[in-house]
Amino acid sequence: MLQSYPSEQGMMARGVLASLLVCVALAIGGDAASGSSKDKTYTVVGGGGTALRDFVSDAVGNATQDANYKGLYLPFYTVGTGAGQQAFLNNTYVYSIGDFPLSEKDYKTAFRPILQIPLSYGPVAIYANVTPEFHKSSILQLSAPVAAAIFQGNITTWDDPAVLSLNPNLTRLQPPLPKGHPIKLVGRTDSNAAAYALSQWFQQAGNHTWLGAVNKTLPLPPRAKAVSGSGSKVTDYIGSTPGAIGFVDGLAGKKAKLQDAALLNQAGSFVRYSKADWTFPGVNITAPSSNSDTWAHFNLTDLPGAKTYPVATVSLIFTSQILTEREARGAALKSVFGYML
Ligand SMILES: *[C@@H]1O[C@H](CO)[C@@H](O)[C@H](O)[C@H]1NC(C)=O
Ligand SMILES: *[C@@H]1O[C@H](CO)[C@@H](O)[C@H](O)[C@H]1NC(C)=O
Ligand SMILES: *[C@@H]1O[C@H](CO)[C@@H](O)[C@H](O)[C@H]1NC(C)=O
Ligand SMILES: *[C@@H]1O[C@H](CO)[C@@H](O)[C@H](O)[C@H]1NC(C)=O
Ligand SMILES: *[C@@H]1O[C@H](CO)[C@@H](O)[C@H](O)[C@H]1NC(C)=O
Ligand SMILES: *[C@@H]1O[C@H](CO)[C@@H](O)[C@H](O)[C@H]1NC(C)=O
Ligand SMILES: *[C@@H]1O[C@H](CO)[C@@H](O)[C@H](O)[C@H]1NC(C)=O
Ligand SMILES: *[C@@H]1O[C@H](CO)[C@@H](O)[C@H](O)[C@H]1NC(C)=O
Repeated sequence: MLQSYPSEQGMMARGVLASLLVCVALAIGGDAASGSSKDKTYTVVGGGGTALRDFVSDAVGNATQDANYKGLYLPFYTVGTGAGQQAFLNNTYVYSIGDFPLSEKDYKTAFRPILQIPLSYGPVAIYANVTPEFHKSSILQLSAPVAAAIFQGNITTWDDPAVLSLNPNLTRLQPPLPKGHPIKLVGRTDSNAAAYALSQWFQQAGNHTWLGAVNKTLPLPPRAKAVSGSGSKVTDYIGSTPGAIGFVDGLAGKKAKLQDAALLNQAGSFVRYSKADWTFPGVNITAPSSNSDTWAHFNLTDLPGAKTYPVATVSLIFTSQILTEREARGAALKSVFGYML
Protein backbone atom coordinates (compact mmCIF):
# COMPACT_ATOMS: atom_id res chain seq x y z
CA MET A 1 0.00 0.00 0.00
CA LEU A 2 1.04 3.56 -0.55
CA GLN A 3 1.63 5.97 2.30
CA SER A 4 1.12 9.71 2.46
CA TYR A 5 4.41 11.47 3.00
CA PRO A 6 3.19 14.34 5.15
CA SER A 7 1.49 11.99 7.60
CA GLU A 8 2.90 10.17 10.59
CA GLN A 9 2.04 6.93 8.88
CA GLY A 10 4.94 7.01 6.46
CA MET A 11 6.75 4.38 8.52
CA MET A 12 6.12 1.39 6.35
CA ALA A 13 7.22 3.16 3.23
CA ARG A 14 10.29 4.38 5.09
CA GLY A 15 11.16 0.84 6.09
CA VAL A 16 10.69 -0.15 2.47
CA LEU A 17 13.02 2.59 1.34
CA ALA A 18 15.74 1.75 3.86
CA SER A 19 15.61 -1.91 2.83
CA LEU A 20 15.65 -1.08 -0.82
CA LEU A 21 18.65 1.20 -0.48
CA VAL A 22 20.56 -1.46 1.40
CA CYS A 23 19.51 -3.91 -1.25
CA VAL A 24 20.79 -1.61 -3.98
CA ALA A 25 24.07 -1.29 -2.12
CA LEU A 26 24.49 -5.01 -1.64
CA ALA A 27 23.81 -5.73 -5.25
CA ILE A 28 26.44 -3.19 -6.27
CA GLY A 29 28.86 -4.60 -3.74
CA GLY A 30 28.46 -8.07 -5.17
CA ASP A 31 29.40 -10.49 -2.42
CA ALA A 32 29.16 -7.93 0.34
CA ALA A 33 26.66 -10.03 2.21
CA SER A 34 28.77 -13.17 2.24
CA GLY A 35 30.85 -12.03 5.19
CA SER A 36 34.44 -11.79 4.03
CA SER A 37 34.10 -8.40 2.40
CA LYS A 38 31.75 -6.89 4.96
CA ASP A 39 34.23 -4.19 6.01
CA LYS A 40 34.73 -2.74 2.55
CA THR A 41 33.29 0.68 1.79
CA TYR A 42 30.44 0.84 -0.67
CA THR A 43 29.25 4.13 -2.03
CA VAL A 44 25.89 4.15 -3.70
CA VAL A 45 24.87 7.51 -5.13
CA GLY A 46 21.23 8.44 -5.55
CA GLY A 47 19.23 11.58 -6.14
CA GLY A 48 15.87 13.01 -7.12
CA GLY A 49 12.90 15.01 -5.95
CA THR A 50 12.89 17.33 -2.98
CA ALA A 51 9.45 16.39 -1.58
CA LEU A 52 10.79 13.21 0.01
CA ARG A 53 14.09 14.69 1.16
CA ASP A 54 13.52 14.28 4.92
CA PHE A 55 12.03 10.87 4.39
CA VAL A 56 15.05 9.73 2.36
CA SER A 57 17.67 11.15 4.71
CA ASP A 58 15.98 9.45 7.67
CA ALA A 59 15.79 6.10 5.91
CA VAL A 60 19.36 6.35 4.61
CA GLY A 61 20.62 7.35 8.04
CA ASN A 62 19.08 4.31 9.67
CA ALA A 63 20.19 1.91 6.97
CA THR A 64 23.80 3.02 7.21
CA GLN A 65 23.75 2.78 11.01
CA ASP A 66 22.91 -0.91 10.85
CA ALA A 67 26.03 -2.88 11.86
CA ASN A 68 25.33 -5.45 9.15
CA TYR A 69 25.93 -2.80 6.53
CA LYS A 70 29.11 -1.28 7.89
CA GLY A 71 30.97 0.73 5.31
CA LEU A 72 27.86 1.56 3.35
CA TYR A 73 27.78 5.19 2.20
CA LEU A 74 24.57 6.42 0.61
CA PRO A 75 24.72 10.06 -0.50
CA PHE A 76 21.42 11.41 -1.89
CA TYR A 77 21.28 14.60 -3.96
CA THR A 78 18.00 16.55 -4.05
CA VAL A 79 18.09 17.83 -7.62
CA GLY A 80 14.41 17.49 -8.49
CA THR A 81 12.54 14.57 -10.03
CA GLY A 82 13.34 15.31 -13.69
CA ALA A 83 17.08 15.84 -13.19
CA GLY A 84 17.23 12.82 -10.87
CA GLN A 85 15.63 10.61 -13.52
CA GLN A 86 18.02 11.84 -16.21
CA ALA A 87 21.05 11.24 -13.98
CA PHE A 88 19.76 7.76 -13.17
CA LEU A 89 19.21 7.02 -16.87
CA ASN A 90 22.78 8.09 -17.74
CA ASN A 91 24.15 5.99 -14.84
CA THR A 92 25.35 8.94 -12.74
CA TYR A 93 22.98 7.75 -9.99
CA VAL A 94 22.42 4.12 -9.08
CA TYR A 95 18.88 4.87 -8.03
CA SER A 96 16.52 7.82 -8.04
CA ILE A 97 13.38 8.85 -6.20
CA GLY A 98 10.82 11.08 -7.81
CA ASP A 99 7.26 12.30 -7.81
CA PHE A 100 6.23 11.26 -11.31
CA PRO A 101 6.94 8.06 -13.25
CA LEU A 102 9.53 7.76 -16.00
CA SER A 103 7.93 8.64 -19.30
CA GLU A 104 7.18 5.77 -21.62
CA LYS A 105 9.90 7.06 -23.98
CA ASP A 106 12.58 7.22 -21.25
CA TYR A 107 11.56 3.81 -19.99
CA LYS A 108 11.80 2.24 -23.44
CA THR A 109 15.04 3.93 -24.47
CA ALA A 110 16.87 3.19 -21.22
CA PHE A 111 18.32 0.02 -22.82
CA ARG A 112 18.23 -1.80 -19.51
CA PRO A 113 15.44 -3.24 -17.40
CA ILE A 114 14.20 -0.72 -14.85
CA LEU A 115 12.38 -1.36 -11.62
CA GLN A 116 9.95 1.30 -10.43
CA ILE A 117 8.26 0.93 -7.07
CA PRO A 118 5.57 3.36 -5.88
CA LEU A 119 6.41 4.44 -2.33
CA SER A 120 3.95 7.10 -1.29
CA TYR A 121 1.49 9.72 -2.51
CA GLY A 122 1.16 13.42 -1.82
CA PRO A 123 -1.82 15.73 -2.28
CA VAL A 124 -1.62 18.69 -4.66
CA ALA A 125 -3.70 21.64 -3.51
CA ILE A 126 -4.99 24.91 -4.95
CA TYR A 127 -4.54 27.96 -2.73
CA ALA A 128 -6.04 31.39 -3.15
CA ASN A 129 -6.10 34.77 -1.41
CA VAL A 130 -9.51 36.03 -2.56
CA THR A 131 -10.28 38.64 0.14
CA PRO A 132 -9.61 38.45 3.89
CA GLU A 133 -13.39 38.55 4.58
CA PHE A 134 -13.99 35.58 2.30
CA HIS A 135 -11.39 33.33 3.94
CA LYS A 136 -12.64 34.20 7.46
CA SER A 137 -15.93 32.39 6.88
CA SER A 138 -15.62 30.35 3.69
CA ILE A 139 -13.61 27.76 1.82
CA LEU A 140 -13.03 28.30 -1.90
CA GLN A 141 -14.75 25.60 -3.99
CA LEU A 142 -13.52 24.65 -7.47
CA SER A 143 -14.41 22.10 -10.13
CA ALA A 144 -11.89 20.85 -12.71
CA PRO A 145 -13.45 22.81 -15.64
CA VAL A 146 -13.54 26.10 -13.69
CA ALA A 147 -10.04 25.62 -12.24
CA ALA A 148 -8.71 24.73 -15.71
CA ALA A 149 -10.30 27.88 -17.18
CA ILE A 150 -8.73 29.97 -14.39
CA PHE A 151 -5.23 28.50 -14.86
CA GLN A 152 -5.53 28.88 -18.61
CA GLY A 153 -6.44 32.55 -18.30
CA ASN A 154 -10.01 32.18 -19.61
CA ILE A 155 -11.53 33.29 -16.29
CA THR A 156 -9.83 36.44 -15.05
CA THR A 157 -12.00 37.89 -12.26
CA TRP A 158 -13.29 36.54 -8.97
CA ASP A 159 -16.83 37.68 -9.80
CA ASP A 160 -16.98 35.61 -13.00
CA PRO A 161 -20.38 33.81 -13.05
CA ALA A 162 -18.68 30.38 -13.18
CA VAL A 163 -16.77 31.14 -9.97
CA LEU A 164 -19.82 32.64 -8.25
CA SER A 165 -22.00 29.66 -9.09
CA LEU A 166 -19.57 27.36 -7.23
CA ASN A 167 -19.12 29.89 -4.41
CA PRO A 168 -22.43 31.60 -3.54
CA ASN A 169 -20.77 32.98 -0.39
CA LEU A 170 -18.80 35.36 -2.63
CA THR A 171 -22.05 37.16 -3.41
CA ARG A 172 -22.83 37.70 0.30
CA LEU A 173 -19.55 39.25 1.42
CA GLN A 174 -19.50 42.35 3.65
CA PRO A 175 -17.85 44.51 2.40
CA PRO A 176 -18.93 43.13 -1.01
CA LEU A 177 -16.46 41.57 -3.40
CA PRO A 178 -15.03 44.44 -5.52
CA LYS A 179 -16.46 44.43 -9.05
CA GLY A 180 -14.00 42.82 -11.46
CA HIS A 181 -11.65 41.82 -8.59
CA PRO A 182 -8.73 40.42 -10.65
CA ILE A 183 -7.52 36.85 -10.34
CA LYS A 184 -3.72 36.97 -10.05
CA LEU A 185 -2.22 33.72 -11.25
CA VAL A 186 1.15 32.48 -10.06
CA GLY A 187 2.92 29.46 -11.54
CA ARG A 188 6.26 27.73 -11.79
CA THR A 189 8.20 27.75 -15.04
CA ASP A 190 10.36 24.76 -14.01
CA SER A 191 9.16 21.18 -14.07
CA ASN A 192 7.25 20.12 -10.96
CA ALA A 193 5.21 17.10 -9.96
CA ALA A 194 2.25 19.24 -8.83
CA ALA A 195 1.81 20.51 -12.41
CA TYR A 196 1.84 16.94 -13.70
CA ALA A 197 -0.90 15.83 -11.28
CA LEU A 198 -3.03 18.96 -11.70
CA SER A 199 -2.96 18.87 -15.52
CA GLN A 200 -3.91 15.22 -15.31
CA TRP A 201 -6.98 16.18 -13.28
CA PHE A 202 -7.82 18.94 -15.78
CA GLN A 203 -7.57 16.45 -18.62
CA GLN A 204 -9.55 13.69 -16.90
CA ALA A 205 -12.24 15.76 -15.20
CA GLY A 206 -12.11 19.11 -17.03
CA ASN A 207 -14.87 18.41 -19.56
CA HIS A 208 -12.52 19.35 -22.45
CA THR A 209 -11.85 22.84 -21.04
CA TRP A 210 -8.10 22.20 -20.67
CA LEU A 211 -6.44 22.82 -24.02
CA GLY A 212 -2.92 21.98 -22.82
CA ALA A 213 -1.36 18.57 -22.37
CA VAL A 214 -0.57 16.59 -19.23
CA ASN A 215 2.81 18.12 -18.50
CA LYS A 216 5.31 18.82 -15.72
CA THR A 217 5.46 22.47 -16.80
CA LEU A 218 2.21 24.29 -17.51
CA PRO A 219 1.99 27.25 -19.87
CA LEU A 220 1.40 30.54 -18.04
CA PRO A 221 -1.04 33.05 -19.55
CA PRO A 222 0.21 36.60 -20.14
CA ARG A 223 0.29 38.77 -16.97
CA ALA A 224 0.67 35.71 -14.70
CA LYS A 225 3.45 35.86 -12.11
CA ALA A 226 6.19 33.38 -13.08
CA VAL A 227 8.39 31.86 -10.38
CA SER A 228 10.89 29.04 -10.47
CA GLY A 229 12.73 26.64 -8.20
CA SER A 230 10.42 25.84 -5.32
CA GLY A 231 6.85 25.66 -4.14
CA SER A 232 7.55 28.19 -1.38
CA LYS A 233 7.87 30.91 -4.05
CA VAL A 234 4.31 30.11 -5.11
CA THR A 235 2.98 30.16 -1.55
CA ASP A 236 4.88 33.39 -0.72
CA TYR A 237 3.23 35.15 -3.65
CA ILE A 238 -0.24 33.88 -2.74
CA GLY A 239 0.15 34.82 0.92
CA SER A 240 1.17 38.39 0.09
CA THR A 241 -1.00 39.16 -2.96
CA PRO A 242 -4.75 39.90 -2.73
CA GLY A 243 -6.59 38.07 -5.50
CA ALA A 244 -3.80 35.51 -6.02
CA ILE A 245 -4.26 31.83 -6.88
CA GLY A 246 -1.79 29.01 -7.49
CA PHE A 247 -1.20 25.34 -6.90
CA VAL A 248 1.51 23.49 -5.07
CA ASP A 249 2.05 20.27 -3.13
CA GLY A 250 0.02 20.10 0.08
CA LEU A 251 3.12 20.04 2.26
CA ALA A 252 4.34 23.42 0.98
CA GLY A 253 0.87 24.93 1.44
CA LYS A 254 0.62 23.56 4.96
CA LYS A 255 4.04 25.01 5.84
CA ALA A 256 2.87 28.41 4.56
CA LYS A 257 -0.34 28.07 6.65
CA LEU A 258 -2.54 28.68 3.60
CA GLN A 259 -6.15 27.46 3.36
CA ASP A 260 -6.54 24.77 0.70
CA ALA A 261 -9.50 24.96 -1.69
CA ALA A 262 -12.15 22.22 -1.77
CA LEU A 263 -12.10 20.41 -5.12
CA LEU A 264 -15.06 18.72 -6.76
CA ASN A 265 -14.38 14.99 -6.88
CA GLN A 266 -15.77 12.31 -9.20
CA ALA A 267 -18.59 11.54 -6.75
CA GLY A 268 -19.75 15.18 -6.93
CA SER A 269 -18.56 16.34 -3.48
CA PHE A 270 -16.24 19.22 -2.67
CA VAL A 271 -13.33 17.79 -0.66
CA ARG A 272 -10.34 19.47 0.95
CA TYR A 273 -7.21 17.36 1.04
CA SER A 274 -6.88 17.91 4.77
CA LYS A 275 -10.35 16.36 5.29
CA ALA A 276 -10.16 13.65 2.63
CA ASP A 277 -10.26 9.90 2.92
CA TRP A 278 -6.89 8.63 1.68
CA THR A 279 -7.71 4.93 1.51
CA PHE A 280 -8.82 5.06 -2.17
CA PRO A 281 -11.82 2.76 -1.64
CA GLY A 282 -12.40 0.21 -4.34
CA VAL A 283 -9.14 0.96 -6.10
CA ASN A 284 -6.34 -1.56 -6.28
CA ILE A 285 -3.11 0.34 -5.89
CA THR A 286 -1.02 -2.66 -4.91
CA ALA A 287 2.21 -2.72 -6.89
CA PRO A 288 1.76 -5.22 -9.71
CA SER A 289 3.90 -8.31 -9.29
CA SER A 290 5.45 -7.78 -12.71
CA ASN A 291 8.33 -5.32 -12.59
CA SER A 292 8.23 -4.81 -16.32
CA ASP A 293 5.37 -2.34 -16.03
CA THR A 294 6.34 1.14 -17.20
CA TRP A 295 4.12 2.83 -14.58
CA ALA A 296 4.01 5.74 -17.04
CA HIS A 297 0.22 5.84 -16.88
CA PHE A 298 -0.25 5.03 -13.21
CA ASN A 299 -1.99 7.85 -11.37
CA LEU A 300 -4.29 8.58 -8.45
CA THR A 301 -6.30 11.29 -10.19
CA ASP A 302 -10.09 11.65 -10.12
CA LEU A 303 -10.77 8.34 -8.41
CA PRO A 304 -14.19 7.28 -7.05
CA GLY A 305 -15.25 7.59 -3.40
CA ALA A 306 -17.43 10.15 -1.61
CA LYS A 307 -14.48 11.66 0.30
CA THR A 308 -11.69 10.93 -2.18
CA TYR A 309 -9.49 13.93 -2.99
CA PRO A 310 -9.00 14.14 -6.77
CA VAL A 311 -5.39 15.34 -7.23
CA ALA A 312 -2.31 13.55 -5.88
CA THR A 313 1.23 12.81 -6.94
CA VAL A 314 2.80 9.36 -6.65
CA SER A 315 6.41 9.01 -5.51
CA LEU A 316 8.42 6.16 -6.92
CA ILE A 317 11.90 4.74 -6.53
CA PHE A 318 13.75 3.90 -9.77
CA THR A 319 16.53 1.37 -9.91
CA SER A 320 17.85 -1.31 -12.22
CA GLN A 321 15.71 -4.37 -12.45
CA ILE A 322 18.81 -6.52 -12.41
CA LEU A 323 18.71 -6.20 -8.63
CA THR A 324 15.67 -8.41 -8.41
CA GLU A 325 17.46 -11.08 -10.39
CA ARG A 326 20.38 -11.01 -8.01
CA GLU A 327 17.93 -11.17 -5.16
CA ALA A 328 17.14 -14.76 -6.02
CA ARG A 329 20.80 -15.68 -5.60
CA GLY A 330 21.69 -14.33 -2.18
CA ALA A 331 19.96 -15.35 0.99
CA ALA A 332 20.90 -12.07 2.68
CA LEU A 333 19.47 -10.03 -0.13
CA LYS A 334 16.37 -12.14 -0.11
CA SER A 335 15.74 -11.44 3.54
CA VAL A 336 16.15 -7.72 2.98
CA PHE A 337 13.79 -7.82 0.05
CA GLY A 338 11.39 -9.96 2.04
CA TYR A 339 11.06 -7.16 4.56
CA MET A 340 10.15 -4.86 1.72
CA LEU A 341 7.33 -7.00 0.30
C1 LIG B 1 15.25 5.50 12.39
O1 LIG B 1 15.50 5.09 13.73
C2 LIG B 1 14.81 5.84 14.72
C3 LIG B 1 15.28 5.36 16.09
O2 LIG B 1 15.20 3.97 16.18
C4 LIG B 1 13.30 5.64 14.51
O3 LIG B 1 12.58 6.40 15.46
C5 LIG B 1 12.94 6.10 13.13
O4 LIG B 1 11.58 5.88 12.89
C6 LIG B 1 13.75 5.36 12.08
N1 LIG B 1 13.47 5.88 10.77
C7 LIG B 1 13.25 5.10 9.71
C8 LIG B 1 13.03 5.81 8.44
O5 LIG B 1 13.24 3.89 9.76
C1 LIG C 1 23.65 12.90 -16.56
O1 LIG C 1 22.45 13.66 -16.39
C2 LIG C 1 22.56 14.72 -15.43
C3 LIG C 1 21.18 15.35 -15.27
O2 LIG C 1 20.63 15.70 -16.52
C4 LIG C 1 23.61 15.72 -15.91
O3 LIG C 1 23.75 16.75 -14.96
C5 LIG C 1 24.93 14.99 -16.07
O4 LIG C 1 25.89 15.89 -16.61
C6 LIG C 1 24.79 13.79 -17.01
N1 LIG C 1 26.03 13.04 -17.00
C7 LIG C 1 26.53 12.45 -18.08
C8 LIG C 1 27.77 11.68 -17.88
O5 LIG C 1 25.95 12.51 -19.15
C1 LIG D 1 -20.74 29.89 3.41
O1 LIG D 1 -21.04 30.72 4.50
C2 LIG D 1 -21.72 30.07 5.56
C3 LIG D 1 -22.13 31.13 6.58
O2 LIG D 1 -21.01 31.87 6.98
C4 LIG D 1 -20.84 29.01 6.16
O3 LIG D 1 -21.47 28.33 7.20
C5 LIG D 1 -20.47 28.02 5.06
O4 LIG D 1 -19.56 27.05 5.56
C6 LIG D 1 -19.84 28.75 3.89
N1 LIG D 1 -19.61 27.80 2.79
C7 LIG D 1 -18.39 27.48 2.38
C8 LIG D 1 -18.33 26.50 1.24
O5 LIG D 1 -17.37 27.90 2.88
C1 LIG E 1 -8.87 29.98 -23.29
O1 LIG E 1 -7.47 30.24 -23.19
C2 LIG E 1 -6.73 29.61 -24.21
C3 LIG E 1 -5.27 29.75 -23.87
O2 LIG E 1 -4.96 31.04 -23.48
C4 LIG E 1 -7.11 30.18 -25.55
O3 LIG E 1 -6.38 29.55 -26.57
C5 LIG E 1 -8.59 29.95 -25.77
O4 LIG E 1 -9.00 30.55 -26.97
C6 LIG E 1 -9.41 30.50 -24.62
N1 LIG E 1 -10.79 30.09 -24.78
C7 LIG E 1 -11.77 30.91 -24.63
C8 LIG E 1 -13.16 30.34 -24.80
O5 LIG E 1 -11.61 32.11 -24.38
C1 LIG F 1 -19.48 19.92 -20.32
O1 LIG F 1 -19.46 20.89 -21.35
C2 LIG F 1 -20.63 20.91 -22.15
C3 LIG F 1 -20.38 21.84 -23.33
O2 LIG F 1 -19.82 23.05 -22.88
C4 LIG F 1 -21.80 21.32 -21.29
O3 LIG F 1 -22.97 21.34 -22.05
C5 LIG F 1 -21.94 20.32 -20.12
O4 LIG F 1 -22.96 20.76 -19.25
C6 LIG F 1 -20.63 20.21 -19.37
N1 LIG F 1 -20.75 19.14 -18.39
C7 LIG F 1 -20.33 19.27 -17.15
C8 LIG F 1 -20.49 18.09 -16.27
O5 LIG F 1 -19.84 20.32 -16.73
C1 LIG G 1 5.50 20.24 -22.00
O1 LIG G 1 6.07 21.48 -21.61
C2 LIG G 1 7.33 21.72 -22.23
C3 LIG G 1 7.90 22.98 -21.60
O2 LIG G 1 6.97 24.03 -21.64
C4 LIG G 1 7.13 21.84 -23.74
O3 LIG G 1 8.38 22.06 -24.35
C5 LIG G 1 6.52 20.54 -24.24
O4 LIG G 1 6.24 20.68 -25.60
C6 LIG G 1 5.23 20.23 -23.50
N1 LIG G 1 4.74 18.92 -23.89
C7 LIG G 1 3.52 18.72 -24.35
C8 LIG G 1 3.16 17.32 -24.67
O5 LIG G 1 2.75 19.65 -24.51
C1 LIG H 1 -4.44 -6.03 -6.72
O1 LIG H 1 -3.39 -6.15 -7.68
C2 LIG H 1 -2.44 -7.13 -7.35
C3 LIG H 1 -1.29 -7.03 -8.35
O2 LIG H 1 -1.75 -6.87 -9.65
C4 LIG H 1 -3.12 -8.49 -7.37
O3 LIG H 1 -2.19 -9.49 -7.02
C5 LIG H 1 -4.25 -8.48 -6.32
O4 LIG H 1 -4.96 -9.69 -6.38
C6 LIG H 1 -5.21 -7.33 -6.61
N1 LIG H 1 -6.19 -7.25 -5.52
C7 LIG H 1 -7.47 -7.05 -5.74
C8 LIG H 1 -8.33 -6.95 -4.51
O5 LIG H 1 -7.94 -6.94 -6.86
C1 LIG I 1 -4.43 7.98 -15.34
O1 LIG I 1 -5.14 6.80 -15.06
C2 LIG I 1 -6.33 6.67 -15.84
C3 LIG I 1 -7.13 5.48 -15.33
O2 LIG I 1 -6.33 4.44 -14.91
C4 LIG I 1 -5.96 6.54 -17.31
O3 LIG I 1 -7.12 6.42 -18.09
C5 LIG I 1 -5.18 7.78 -17.72
O4 LIG I 1 -4.72 7.66 -19.05
C6 LIG I 1 -3.99 8.00 -16.81
N1 LIG I 1 -3.37 9.27 -17.13
C7 LIG I 1 -2.15 9.38 -17.69
C8 LIG I 1 -1.67 10.78 -17.96
O5 LIG I 1 -1.45 8.44 -17.96
